Amino acid sequence: MKNGLKSVLTFIIIICGFLYLIKYIPDFKGIISDSNEKTQSVSGNNTYKDDQNDTDIKSQLLLVNEEHGLEQSYIPKDLIIPNIKFTSGVSNEENHVAGIVAKPLEQLVSEAKKDGIILLGNSGYRSYKTQENTYNNRVLSEGEKLADAYVAKPGYSEHQTGLCIDITNQGKYFVKGTKEADWLAKNCYRFGFIIRYPYGKKNITGIEYEPWHIRYVGKNAAKYIYDNKITLEEYLAK
Ligand code: DAL
Ligand code: ZN
Repeated sequence: MKNGLKSVLTFIIIICGFLYLIKYIPDFKGIISDSNEKTQSVSGNNTYKDDQNDTDIKSQLLLVNEEHGLEQSYIPKDLIIPNIKFTSGVSNEENHVAGIVAKPLEQLVSEAKKDGIILLGNSGYRSYKTQENTYNNRVLSEGEKLADAYVAKPGYSEHQTGLCIDITNQGKYFVKGTKEADWLAKNCYRFGFIIRYPYGKKNITGIEYEPWHIRYVGKNAAKYIYDNKITLEEYLAK
């Protein structure tokens, strides 16, 4: 056989073998991918799928800020009440999050508890209408300037995506320096969350430092953002 033909046949055999491995050995795909599609475990038996597929990744990384808004009619399809404790007085809307967020959030809260840290849900999903009320009430109580520093205008809040949640503690005093806020800042990336509005980044995020507001982006993005001390805006622009 001519050398050229031999090389072509060898090449075809290698490609066929490779395709076979991908199709019939499920874990092989995870080994060769950049781990996006692997089942990841936080601890013990608690496993969940992180970054399940391209649609999930796209939705996890949805950018909502003062320049990127949502339709007034936008409602996440799979809202769910996560199995965590909420602080008193949370409405039967704000105790929901997008389906993809529930398990990681439950794991975060349960791991915190093992470290003696009690984290409570405060405000997850907010409809356009609820955000409008929240914003208007804040303008009335604190004026437009302060409202704009901490509350997104309706249609420009990622609370409308269900991908974020405000966390609080038993004293409803969740500020830097409390053990709960410090634990959250140090550990939330392990579960796929980021502190969405970090200190000193208002020029990028448009919002003042909010130690309580965590946003689910998936583990890969969360670790990168945490390690590099950047914002979601910077991560998406890279
Ligand atoms: N507090 C955040 C920025 C919001 O209102 O969406
Ligand atoms: Zn928030």
